[in-house]
Amino acid sequence: MIPENHMVVIFGSTGDLTKRKIIPAIYQLIRKEQFSEKCPIVCLGRREYTTEEFVSHLELSQFIKNSEPKILQQLSRQIVYIKQDLEEEAADSLRRRFDDITEKFGCGPNKLFYLALPASVFSQAAGIIQLFVDDPGWQRVVFEKPFGDDLSSAEELNNTITSVLREEQIYRVDHYLGKELVQNIFTLRFHNEIFRWAWHSDAIDHVQITASEVLGVEERAGYYDKSGAVRDMVQNHLLQLLSLVAMEPPLANNAEEIRNRTGKVIESLIPVKPDDVVLGQYEGYTQEHGVDGASQTETFAAFKVYVDMPRWKGVPFYLKTGKKLDERYADIKVVFKHNYELCKTGDCDQPNIIVIRIQPDDGIAIAFNVKRPGRSMITEPVLMDFCHHCYFGPNTPEAYESILLNVIQGEPTAFARWDWIRNSWRFVDHLRATAQAPLQYPQNSTGPAESDGLLKRSGRRWIHGEISPRRSQQQTQILPVML
Ligand code: BG6
Repeated sequence: MIPENHMVVIFGSTGDLTKRKIIPAIYQLIRKEQFSEKCPIVCLGRREYTTEEFVSHLELSQFIKNSEPKILQQLSRQIVYIKQDLEEEAADSLRRRFDDITEKFGCGPNKLFYLALPASVFSQAAGIIQLFVDDPGWQRVVFEKPFGDDLSSAEELNNTITSVLREEQIYRVDHYLGKELVQNIFTLRFHNEIFRWAWHSDAIDHVQITASEVLGVEERAGYYDKSGAVRDMVQNHLLQLLSLVAMEPPLANNAEEIRNRTGKVIESLIPVKPDDVVLGQYEGYTQEHGVDGASQTETFAAFKVYVDMPRWKGVPFYLKTGKKLDERYADIKVVFKHNYELCKTGDCDQPNIIVIRIQPDDGIAIAFNVKRPGRSMITEPVLMDFCHHCYFGPNTPEAYESILLNVIQGEPTAFARWDWIRNSWRFVDHLRATAQAPLQYPQNSTGPAESDGLLKRSGRRWIHGEISPRRSQQQTQILPVML
């Protein structure tokens, strides 16, 4: 179904995000007939470009793989570039340009403003958007992360934008929430009774949440060296994953209720103790282009945290992320308890594990024990694996496609609400103040050895890639079940 027509206005359109993510996502929406030819894509930037020059700057065929020429032409026809400095007086001229574009395309008054900008200039952009917020139709504004760089700057930012916009007009992006397998956490937990009842401290020993990256800081040193792994990945993506894994069942399937429940988790995190956090920095980081030679910025963070909710009594959550590690993957491993009766007799099986593989090889796997053939009762763990793209095909929407479609449809569930952001900063500010200086770790490793200690002390260990089907020989395929 094509949603009603609207104009998309991208601020900061000459930056990387527009060509890498936003424009390719719109291409896919056009291809899937979810974005009408009547919707112009107005790109604002400081550089002197004509629209034709801007379109060639987007390098469409490089960033949109296997593109169809017909769709590319349509996409190019919908793009309009306007030179606009955020400091310049914009009111009359922009209004006139928008009116002309509206008339030419027939898109009506709805507008989606996308702020692909650093947070430091959000308020200037909000000043421009202010001119349009009371227009008829819907006016929605998308803010990219980072939303502040600590609690007080986030509060300040929020005060500025809420003085111009109503909460229901604000969409704070966390692109992890747009990922298909992240959205499946909810489905797995609440649309499957077998998992719903097992999701409890009675059955679960601990949870591991990992986002491991092979790339380093690349071209982003200017931003990253001021941010570091905790603010770049933990404050948003990892804590969102934790919130979805730990939330109580919502009483209704609507955005407000779901965000109330995830908000409750972030509010219930117990501040991390100094011994429960390890920061790291990859060797050679300070020699990277644009990084301060004496930088103490962390490129790795691992910590243990408890959620103060009856469901999670005594269950540690271990979170880990880092750059220049040995493997690229993001997943959640829910590790179940052993059968203590059997363990007491020295017959301990491997624990059951549910793995939610966010990327790559998106899917869900369950490790369980079977008996080895023969008379003995020796058991062996096997993996039952659901491969998402093998089943649904390779055209699963990319995160930014879901993000844009959700905004166009006015569906806020996959966006962070202010109370969640406030409490995540509160937690993260404390964590940063508590942590020791980062420890060096070799590139292409699993991070500083000290991070293993977080689990070892209680007889646990990080489960790295080894139970992923990429390495497993024992796969059980899940086939459609006819009931
Ligand atoms: C971004 C971070 O939010 O997420 C990057 O700023 C990080 O540093 C990226 O590399 C990871 O996203 P993904 O989708 O590749 O896991």
